[in-house]
Amino acid sequence: MKKLLIRGGKKIEGAVDISGAKNAALPLMVASILTDEKLVLTNIPQVSDITTMANLLENLGIEISFDGFDVDQGEQGKVMVFDAKNIAKDPVAPYDLVRKMRASIFALGPLLARCGKAKISLPGGCAIGTRPVDLHLKAMEKLGAKIELSAGYIDAKVDGCLRGAEIHFEKVSVGATESSLMAACLAEGETILSNAACEPEVVDLAKCLRAMGANIEGEGTPRIKIIGVKKLHGARHKIVADRIEAGTYAIAAGITGGKLILRGIEPWVVSSFKNELEQSGIEIKDLGSSQIEVSRKSDFIKSVNISTSPFPGFPTDMQAQFMALMTVADSTSTIEETIFENRFMHVMELQRMGANVESHGSVAVVKGVKKLTGAEVMATDLRASVCLVLAALVADGETVINRLYHLERGYERLAEKLVACGADIRILY
Ligand code: UD1
Repeated sequence: MKKLLIRGGKKIEGAVDISGAKNAALPLMVASILTDEKLVLTNIPQVSDITTMANLLENLGIEISFDGFDVDQGEQGKVMVFDAKNIAKDPVAPYDLVRKMRASIFALGPLLARCGKAKISLPGGCAIGTRPVDLHLKAMEKLGAKIELSAGYIDAKVDGCLRGAEIHFEKVSVGATESSLMAACLAEGETILSNAACEPEVVDLAKCLRAMGANIEGEGTPRIKIIGVKKLHGARHKIVADRIEAGTYAIAAGITGGKLILRGIEPWVVSSFKNELEQSGIEIKDLGSSQIEVSRKSDFIKSVNISTSPFPGFPTDMQAQFMALMTVADSTSTIEETIFENRFMHVMELQRMGANVESHGSVAVVKGVKKLTGAEVMATDLRASVCLVLAALVADGETVINRLYHLERGYERLAEKLVACGADIRILY
């Protein structure tokens, strides 16, 4: 099993190309279900979650081809073409594929809209919590679907076509917003989504759906209005930059006292955690032309309290990385996780590296230490793994991070990008 060997103590300096956002790419790939014409997506990151989603879509009868890298138009990343002309009449997303990636559930809405039925395995629990799918199911019922749960599967059907409805989400859910948004594009009449997620990835999805002919207003706010259309057509869309990847590299520069230019990202994309990074002593400058400079402005890192919440709040997907930064800050900080109930798996691994962190329920108290020390640690989920990478970059000595596959789910060429900026990292096989 692949591992990372990191020798800490090097400043991270240079420039990094930020990849397209995996969390935007996944629902956008699913959006291809909504049309019998070709959807071309550019700036697709090369990470394993994308391969898993491609396998799921192929299993549903969607033809996918790779069309090189669109460098000529200033675009980086993969260009992929999705053709759902011959989509399965009885679409099934089997357990084997769904258990690998929960985002498979995002296909429920589009499948109901296009095929009138869908059978999707229930995802089951995952490392960061129970993660139910009730909001997805309730939203589809509002749009007129009949849903049965049997033998571990969601069996959903609709008589005729989906009908527009008022859907109020009791809790903000990125995935349920995205699935409902896609389904409502082909539902008859008007749909209002309230308490909808406002994340940049939802905005990017709406932008692509609009390019496909959808009638959508209000994305990026908690109230989205959709007027259904009979048909969507093909389109070409460039995936928004990965704000979590950008934030992770900003912390890599900050924690090591270095400086990075992040290329291919607009400053608004990182707005939801810019303040906290700046308060900790990381300067963020807009260089124009989709480039941001991040650097450590002070001699030390300042302790900052954070609490995760839906956009525009501090993202749960940046919580673990921020905790790594706080382990070497000047005083004490509290980190509250309000989105997922079990997202402190990195705490025990950080303790093994000499961090002074204790978690009590949804709150972790981090007392900054002068030095972390390298150790053999275990990656438990995507963001927890990258938090250990960040800690290893400043730790004394060698850190070995096991279970590299977690990182490969969501970070494109992480080791390579960091090594190009001065990190001492080797991949062990
Ligand atoms: C997405 C992101 C993930 C991020 C999360 C929160 C993708 C592919 N993944 O996941 O990286 O951490 O948003 O920003 O975009 N919930 C329910 N019932 C449901 C659905 C969700 O109770 O039917 C709960 C979840 O357990 C969680 C909260 O709602 O407590 C938010 O989850 P949600 O926004 O749905 O996360 P995902 O869309 O799965």
